[in-house]
Amino acid sequence: MYLRRMKTQERDVMVFRTIEELHDYLATARERGDTVGCVPTMGYLHDGHASLMREAAQHHKVVVVSIFVNPTQFGPSEDFERYPRDFERDQAIVAEAGGTAIFFPSVEEMYPSGARSTIHIDGVTEMLEGAQRPTHFDGVATVVSRLFEAMLPDEAFFGQKDYQQTLVVRKLVETSPLDVVHRVKITVLATQRDADGLARSSRNVYLSTEDRSDAPVIYRALLRAQNAFRNGERASDALESLMREELATVPRLDVEYATAVDATTLQHADHYAQGQSIVLLIAARLGSTRLIDNVVIDPQA
Ligand code: PAJ
Repeated sequence: MYLRRMKTQERDVMVFRTIEELHDYLATARERGDTVGCVPTMGYLHDGHASLMREAAQHHKVVVVSIFVNPTQFGPSEDFERYPRDFERDQAIVAEAGGTAIFFPSVEEMYPSGARSTIHIDGVTEMLEGAQRPTHFDGVATVVSRLFEAMLPDEAFFGQKDYQQTLVVRKLVETSPLDVVHRVKITVLATQRDADGLARSSRNVYLSTEDRSDAPVIYRALLRAQNAFRNGERASDALESLMREELATVPRLDVEYATAVDATTLQHADHYAQGQSIVLLIAARLGSTRLIDNVVIDPQA
């Protein structure tokens, strides 16, 4: 019964490889009065992505999921070539999670030769991921703007897992001169985790057995600092030392950053005010895999 239903839904998921075809589909949907939700992804979908699609399907008749491994957000020595890809499996996940269409463009479709303009967002891109990966957020802002122009969404769904990215996307939308980008409502949803706390990620497939058993230390470190914050600790030194201490229990983990910053500006301070929202962020390498995770703490919540 379940399988039959999945099959039927699968048939209903349309796949578009060009912006023109997608626009025809969206125009028809608009004529029917449907609203459009979108979920931008790089594919190799997991339950984190599916949670975004499920939420989108709650609010919109049309849910477009883009699957595009965006070359411009990878640095020269990063994993663009080996980034995992499995379109058939992705199609089944989209169908099951309530997506109605997949936008699966080629690199040429997204970046026609000659189109070389890049969007740079400042203020929230210089630090953390931006410091480690200098061209990364230009690639993200540029592709998200182009994806919005292609998918023409009313609302777009992103995961808190990539916290700094959510701030970049919000700022992109606020500052974009393009109406189709400027009017998009951005919704950010909680990070989905495995039972032991490891944040779901397409890159988790790179983890060896040893890496996988060591990886949950990242979330444990975040929770230790979160607990201290809840118990009144507001000094960034103390919060960061707690994270470092926990991370050091896995000596082979190579920590890039483990920090506590303001949740809106990402600015670092020695001490945070009582009512101030902060975010704890960690980036670390295990073997050849780079993992990131974060916890947002809102003292008002
Ligand atoms: P990707 O890594 O495929 O992630 C697509 C979306 O899924 C992002 O919004 C991401 O934050 C969210 N996501 C990933 N893991 C999650 C988890 N464990 N729980 C909840 N949400 C999760 O992020 C990108 O692709 C790209 O940078 C993109 C925005 C598509 C631009 O190329």
